[in-house]
Amino acid sequence: MDEKRILLVEDDSAQAAMLGLELKRRGFRVEAERSAPAAVARVEKEIFDAVVTDLRLGSGDGLQVVAAVKSSQPETGVIVITGHGSIDTAVAAMKAGAFDYLTKPVEPEELTLALRKTIEHRDLVGEVRRLRAEVRERQGFAKIVSTSAQMKRVLDLISKVAATDATVLITGESGTGKELVARAIHENSPRRDGSFVAINCGALPEGLLESELFGHVKGSFTGADRNKRGLFEEASGGTLFLDEISETTPGLQVKLLRALQEGEIRRVGDNHPVKVSARVVAATNRDLKKLATEGKFRDDLYYRLKVFPIEIPPLRERPEDIPPLAETFLKKARVRSGSAAAKFTPAALKSLASYAWPGNVRELEHAVERALIMASGLAVDRGDLPPEIADAAPAAKAKPAKRPAKRAAVR
Ligand SMILES: Nc1ncnc2c1ncn2[C@@H]1O[C@H](COP(=O)(O)OP(=O)(O)OP(=O)(O)O)[C@@H](O)[C@H]1O
Ligand SMILES: [Mg+2]
Repeated sequence: MDEKRILLVEDDSAQAAMLGLELKRRGFRVEAERSAPAAVARVEKEIFDAVVTDLRLGSGDGLQVVAAVKSSQPETGVIVITGHGSIDTAVAAMKAGAFDYLTKPVEPEELTLALRKTIEHRDLVGEVRRLRAEVRERQGFAKIVSTSAQMKRVLDLISKVAATDATVLITGESGTGKELVARAIHENSPRRDGSFVAINCGALPEGLLESELFGHVKGSFTGADRNKRGLFEEASGGTLFLDEISETTPGLQVKLLRALQEGEIRRVGDNHPVKVSARVVAATNRDLKKLATEGKFRDDLYYRLKVFPIEIPPLRERPEDIPPLAETFLKKARVRSGSAAAKFTPAALKSLASYAWPGNVRELEHAVERALIMASGLAVDRGDLPPEIADAAPAAKAKPAKRPAKRAAVR
């Protein structure tokens, strides 16, 4: 492991010499400064792996050092050293962004541990950021195929709403890409470094869903053997995706409304409100407005959810998207299957374009995957497609097998 560079800010020279020596002995490279202004000047020019600063300095104070590190190299952790009994200043330092504090007299062993923890934390944060960026690149915004004017409009709405904290309601038939759009909103929002947490509200009974969403305290029901944070808390600073929102019960709808309106939740079995700051994106493939009119969905929640509605049209209403989507899925499936087929024959494309796609984009994706397994040549042909899709367009040259019934009757 390479030597870690530490900036030690301490005005008491005997203390500085002692700590410097002890840290060097433990494999750190130590640079020392005696005043806040000098330390601030250093951290504005040079990167350190961690900074240790006394809070009370002859010239200036340690809080200035904390602030300078947080603004010029936010990843670098700062450990502050306080005199005994000055808990208030330690709290102030933590609020200003210090990673940890130690009280005098400082044990070298204790300081070493705190330094290792700070550096490890910084490395993990960096690692998470790198991995997130990688995932983002792989399944990001750019991957939403949008040749049709309707989908271009959807992309436009995504980029407009992403910058805000507005609640979004995504509607569309099954398989139209609601979850993909929800993720794109998250990934393009200032919350992208927070978590994207998705839950299918139709998959759990009311009680379980409530404890998933809001958490519970130990003993609140049989099996609750410890406190558990809910998804609203987990998604704080990020995005909570409530899929199939129409499937929630009236009781839960009241609680969701409160969470959205007040930014507060109550864990199951607990009366204390907990502040949450998750951005909510909901989705449904049902007509929520109609359900609200029929009294099957609370209309106050409906109005609260549809602050910013995004409707994704079914695939059959935007046939221009079919060929580029099919190509995208072919490329993706090819990598996985190692198949030789790299394109579609014109006849296959014609069938794909003529089919009505009741299962929308998801059905298209599966059809392409299956066709690729069937394909034996360099292109996916009409005959490789599932029969109902292949038959959507008449085969080339073959005489039209079936005439529409109406015509036949006229003849
Ligand atoms: N415009 C698009 N570009 C690329 N891929 C898409 C597009 N729309 C949908 N997909 C893909 O189609 C599949 C289905 O999309 P998604 O799961 O987001 O649909 P959904 O509306 O949430 O479906 P359901 O209602 O069944 O939950 C996913 O694999 C998604 O990546
Ligand atoms: Mg979905």
